[in-house]
Amino acid sequence: MAPHDAVLGWDEDTTAEAYEAFTRAFPMYGTTSRDLGRRARLGDSRLVLDLCGGAGATAKAILELTPATARVISLDNAAAMQRVGRRTLDDPRLTWVTAAAEDLDRHAPTAEVDAVVCNSAIWKTDVPRVFTAVHTVLRPGGRFVFNIGGGFAGVEHDDEKSAHPGPSLNRLIHQVAARDYGYAPPPTRPPAPKLPLEAVTAHLSSAGMDLVDAEVVAQHGTVAEKMAWLSIPVFARPDGDFTHAQRMEMLAKAYAQTIPDAQTVTSWLVVVAERPKVRP
Ligand SMILES: C[S@@+](CC[C@H](N)C(=O)[O-])C[C@H]1O[C@@H](n2cnc3c(N)ncnc32)[C@H](O)[C@@H]1O
Repeated sequence: MAPHDAVLGWDEDTTAEAYEAFTRAFPMYGTTSRDLGRRARLGDSRLVLDLCGGAGATAKAILELTPATARVISLDNAAAMQRVGRRTLDDPRLTWVTAAAEDLDRHAPTAEVDAVVCNSAIWKTDVPRVFTAVHTVLRPGGRFVFNIGGGFAGVEHDDEKSAHPGPSLNRLIHQVAARDYGYAPPPTRPPAPKLPLEAVTAHLSSAGMDLVDAEVVAQHGTVAEKMAWLSIPVFARPDGDFTHAQRMEMLAKAYAQTIPDAQTVTSWLVVVAERPKVRP
């Protein structure tokens, strides 16, 4: 069955190669993955599931945080991402599984997984189905840790609120697109957040899991990093009927109006959940 939020674009070699190169050149995915891994308390773990693991940035962090005897399953339904991952992260403790997150319980043993970690992806999935499947594979007391992009969770860290010296690179791209490429921006009313904390809490509860912690965190970067991120085909803007080459022209024109070293701030909602321990 097709996933709820199809991975259109992720299963492309150009995206997979560009994404993996980005994770090596810039800290964003490594830093966020390590943060989730630490919150999952992996010190004594034997089996950890890296959910929507892509090209392995999160698996790499998990491998660093787990005992040498621990096994890691990295599950993602984009074969292209995993092809790059297999080539660049070759570790005998790591198993790559190409499958939808919604079907994860078919690919991990029931009630034996110590932690499930999901970096930068959960809102792309069918959340109620995934949470139910996570509950099935987690051992009692096992942790489920994930993050949600600030826009999707409807949160903004104080650092982001106070860090707008000028228009964002994203805003500049849209201005260039409208001025030089006939782009008609969609109506300005922002969409409602797709996965706010209230919805997360309700879905966790329906799946039989407890919310342990939720924190809004700030990820600091530079405009140069944002530029590299927006060069990855799946993230390139604006939407609409443009070629990737056109989007890269727009990006270059927008970037020329920025200060590459200027700081940027991205907000995330980080969630720690747990399958309740069995009461004696
Ligand atoms: C931004 S990448 C994150 C990859 C990795 N966790 C990291 O931090 O680098 C998002 C990944 O989610 C995967 N994905 C999205 N929806 C999915 C689904 N329903 N099932 C499995 N994978 C999915 C995509 O294929 C992509 O590899």
